[in-house]
Amino acid sequence: MSAVHLIRHGAVAELRLDNPDKLNALSMAMLDSLVAHCDAIERDEAIRAVVLSAAPARAFCAGADIAEWGDYTPRDFARHWVRAGHRAFDRLARLARPTVAAIHTHAFGGGLELAAACDARVLAPRATLALPESGLGIVPGWSGTQRLLRLMGEPAVKEMALFGRRIPAQRALALGFAAEIADDAGAAAFAMAEKAAGLSPRAVEIAKTMIHAAADEDRAAAIEALGSAAAGGTEDRAEGVAAFTDKRPAEFSGR
Ligand code: COA
Repeated sequence: MSAVHLIRHGAVAELRLDNPDKLNALSMAMLDSLVAHCDAIERDEAIRAVVLSAAPARAFCAGADIAEWGDYTPRDFARHWVRAGHRAFDRLARLARPTVAAIHTHAFGGGLELAAACDARVLAPRATLALPESGLGIVPGWSGTQRLLRLMGEPAVKEMALFGRRIPAQRALALGFAAEIADDAGAAAFAMAEKAAGLSPRAVEIAKTMIHAAADEDRAAAIEALGSAAAGGTEDRAEGVAAFTDKRPAEFSGR
């Protein structure tokens, strides 16, 4: 059965794709459990960083589980499947913890888009990246033409989406998509996550939100989150809430 497991290793949590018979292809159940795990991680202050990994298989992730598309009409496909992927990937991208993907081999289609939702990626030398959707008569629908474009640039995304080319690990490194190439991508990703886990969690979270605002990753929500956090820490906020509760006029100090 397909699953995403949440495994705790001290301050680092591992999100592990587990659907090896289908090359870790993403089922609807996996997308839903990714969202639930992200919620659980955010509630647990002891978790300071996250590694996204996959069960050993010939692919890190071969994209969406094509078998689940079944008899979807185009309208249902857009309403359910595409939306479910966006919900899960956006949740991961906006997780208030630093995330690293450990890509031991191929990341195709939705698998590549999932890796793009992480903050950093470590690739094994044999890993390749591809957007094979047009060979199936569909298009990248989980942010491959958006978030991935911001990370890799238009030429590389066009090479994959329009020409069906695979991008090898060394090229992904040169493009800045990969932080590192390592024979043991898992160990290298854990080393990155452990380093992040030793930094100030609030500073890391705020820096991530600021970078997202600048990079147009949910800019409006990022700015509101930063502003709310700044206003929420003031004496005026405490006074405003206390005055409301006491049913009296607030006396703001400006601090
Ligand atoms: N969804 C569902 N099942 C998938 C899958 C996917 N995206 N990708 C692979 N599988 C299944 C295959 O059907 C096969 O199942 P079987 O053993 O019951 O026949 C099994 O995983 C192994 O795949 P196979 O193609 O035999 O492995 P391979 O090593 O020869 O090729 C790939 C690997 C990744 C090149 C090839 O599987 C592939 O192109 N997959 C589809 C990728 C894709 O188009 N993704 C975009 C979806 S958005």
